[in-house]
Amino acid sequence: MPERIGIVTGGGDCPGLNAVIRAVVKAAAHRGWESIGFLGGYEGILEPLSYLPLDYTQMGGLLFRGGTILGTSNKGRFAAKTGHGEVRRVPDEILGEAKRNFDALGLRALVCIGGDGSLTIAQQLYETGVPVVGVPKTIDNDLDATLMTFGFETAVTCAVDALDRLHSTAESHNRVMVLEVMGRYAGWIAGSAGLAGGADVILIPEIEFNYDSVVAKIREREAQGKHFTIVIVAEGARLAGGDFVTAGEAGGNREARLGGIGQVVAGELEARTGKECRAVVLGHLQRGGAPTAWDRHLCTRFGVSAVELIAAEQYGYMVALTGTGIEPVLLTDAIDRIRTVPPDGELVRVARALGVSFGNE
Ligand code: F6P
Repeated sequence: MPERIGIVTGGGDCPGLNAVIRAVVKAAAHRGWESIGFLGGYEGILEPLSYLPLDYTQMGGLLFRGGTILGTSNKGRFAAKTGHGEVRRVPDEILGEAKRNFDALGLRALVCIGGDGSLTIAQQLYETGVPVVGVPKTIDNDLDATLMTFGFETAVTCAVDALDRLHSTAESHNRVMVLEVMGRYAGWIAGSAGLAGGADVILIPEIEFNYDSVVAKIREREAQGKHFTIVIVAEGARLAGGDFVTAGEAGGNREARLGGIGQVVAGELEARTGKECRAVVLGHLQRGGAPTAWDRHLCTRFGVSAVELIAAEQYGYMVALTGTGIEPVLLTDAIDRIRTVPPDGELVRVARALGVSFGNE
């Protein structure tokens, strides 16, 4: 009997998931192993079992295909993060059932491709006796144990494209354009895209903002003869002393859904400046479509390294990008440390040096 490994994609989809699946399946096949992919996220490991045999001959076209051919889910019986990121223990009977099914399928290991929520589930499965290897996925880039998660660069590229387009229309109409981007409680997408796309104001969760400061920036630009302003706001940005803006209540075992801050900011800036202000929500455009060349490259390295960890029987680890290449880091370290933008770090310092406002000057 050839060795067999399982693959699961959990949480929100992300550009590059298929590129990782392809790399894992091809690298496994190269060693003579078979692969199967669980469907619909971790739920596929539970009854009724739902999985697909993945043959390396079917991997054509996956390098650049968006989404995940396995489907995914960020709700259901496995949810390990709720509310504003609180960790929840998946019930023992669910973890136990997954372990029994994993054993019955004769699998050697499970490759769990996910962000902090899905990797928290991976760690709990590992503690239940399932040999797991993690791969860091999220457009939010908020895992401290890796220099970069896959999907982030594609999301930033999408946001920069949107900023480029907003620049010309903002300038033509002398408007303030507010672009709301994702990122949950981290401002990496807003900060990186804001810098690369030349935003005048960047509002991130790590730096609470006030309207006086943003208005002062708009007025400063007016005085310089620049009658338009580009604001990029992370969905998790907050007014000083204020709360997160959410798109509805987090139900049951779900995480809070952030969204709506862009419209709030545009409305308030219009009232305070008398200028026309418009909000654009980039939303899931950041998560859909083909991964960039950098992300395809990173996904391929991650996928191959995950198979190498399985060959070395090094379980309970996640593959991570470090200063020296792709290396294993403990899953516990990966899920324990969420990385946010340091308010006095390089990104903020570089932007401020250009006169960019973070809404707290
Ligand atoms: O974690 C990735 C992410 O896209 C966040 O940036 C965003 O807050 C969230 O997922 C949106 O999730 P959903 O698609 O379930 O609304």
